[in-house]
Amino acid sequence: MTWGWRIVILIVAVIMAITAYLMFGYGISALPVPGKVESAFATTARNWYLAREANKVPPPPPRAPGDVTAGGGLFGMECASCHGHTGRKPSPIGRSMYPRPADLGSAAVQKLSDREIFAVVKNGIRLSGMPGFAHINSDAQIWQLVAYIRSLGKAQSLR
Ligand code: HEC
Repeated sequence: MTWGWRIVILIVAVIMAITAYLMFGYGISALPVPGKVESAFATTARNWYLAREANKVPPPPPRAPGDVTAGGGLFGMECASCHGHTGRKPSPIGRSMYPRPADLGSAAVQKLSDREIFAVVKNGIRLSGMPGFAHINSDAQIWQLVAYIRSLGKAQSLR
């Protein structure tokens, strides 16, 4: 047998092993906590797309005094059902999703730029429970939500 054929057989065996793993080693239940390796891969891919989407977002408007309060009001009505009242601890529904919503005050979320957070809220995140609010909120309201999320972390400034 030539090396070419050995490599072909090896590739086919690897594809079969991956398929078997996905078919039998995996389920569609949302209840298990997503594994570390899977989360790392999924988050890296998501952040790559997010950085591209954020490039299409216009620069944030100057922050108005009532933005954090207004954003907090919208958050309570539209987001708390999954993200919890403050956004720092997901609700029981949020904790039953796959992937789970993150603590919005955590370093992992606060390191996103304002335009990236805007893109998440406006467009949503495909293959997760995060809806896009483009048809629900105006851009001005979405910037207020961004201001509220920023107020949960240490970084307060709009970039
Ligand atoms: C139906 C449930 C649901 C609702 C309602 C919801 N979210 Fe989410 N959200 C999620 C989930 C699930 C994720 C995690 C997605 C992921 O891991 O990529 C998420 C992720 C996010 C993130 C990205 C955080 C991160 O993981 O880096 C932000 C920011 C966010 N949501 C803001 C909001 C805001 C603001 C609202 C309300 C206008 C809202 N969400 C409403 C489920 C929801």
